[in-house]
Amino acid sequence: MEIVIVESSTDIGPLVATMVVGLLERRPGAVLGLAGGDSPVPVYESLIAAHRRGEVSFADASAVTLDEYVGLPPGHPRSYRQVIIDDFVSHVDLPVASLHTPDVHAADLDAACAEFEAHIVRLGGVDLQLLGIGANGHIGFNEPGSSLASRTRIATLHPRTRADNARFFASADEVPYHVVTQGVGTVLDARHAVLIASGGHKREAVAAMVEGPVTAFVPASALQLHPHATVVIDAASAADLRLSEYYRFAHEHRPHRRQY
Ligand code: F6R
Repeated sequence: MEIVIVESSTDIGPLVATMVVGLLERRPGAVLGLAGGDSPVPVYESLIAAHRRGEVSFADASAVTLDEYVGLPPGHPRSYRQVIIDDFVSHVDLPVASLHTPDVHAADLDAACAEFEAHIVRLGGVDLQLLGIGANGHIGFNEPGSSLASRTRIATLHPRTRADNARFFASADEVPYHVVTQGVGTVLDARHAVLIASGGHKREAVAAMVEGPVTAFVPASALQLHPHATVVIDAASAADLRLSEYYRFAHEHRPHRRQY
């Protein structure tokens, strides 16, 4: 796990965007794992800006989403598929047909989840998965107690997550109770996992993920087992880390020219 502490949250988007741009330079047909929520938005903005400057093309890339609400009508403006199209895909040259999402409208959701997993395998696996972290330590919508070996499945949101996500809806009652989420095991299969957090409200979850035990109680702690996980956080999110000075030192002295 590489911990990168940036001084300002405004540094996160450009830094993570360089990881994506570098990947696409090496592998134009890469598979990106895209997340919803606020955390990846600065990354999407930086990537859109890089695309407009002609520095990156997504034409040969594909993308899969991390999770999706169950129960919203197709095309609902707050469905993660739609948000990711509106915030990112529609502004770059990634064909919408290359954005793959689980079919949360299928009559047989278990089969749809299995098909999504199979589709990721057919794509060759995810090269870079963007992640946020919930204040309770979730990744994707793997809430506390999720098996660290879990695969894509239907899950029930924690009441705190529903409350946290109420800001995206007209009223708290509109937040769905259920989601389809990549499992923790699915996330761990990505070749590079990049988790972003900013703001003091994430500090406890970040400390538990990085310095606590690996436990289903904090699903994000499973990233400690990932061979290539990068955690990019601002100073406020890093405030509870005991080894923050070392992480800063290690980043300052990271091996020359090493790719993220
Ligand atoms: C969203 C997702 C969630 C969020 C997390 C943080 O697709 O999988 O795990 O990343 O709830 O949300 P934000 O980024 O809005 O603070």
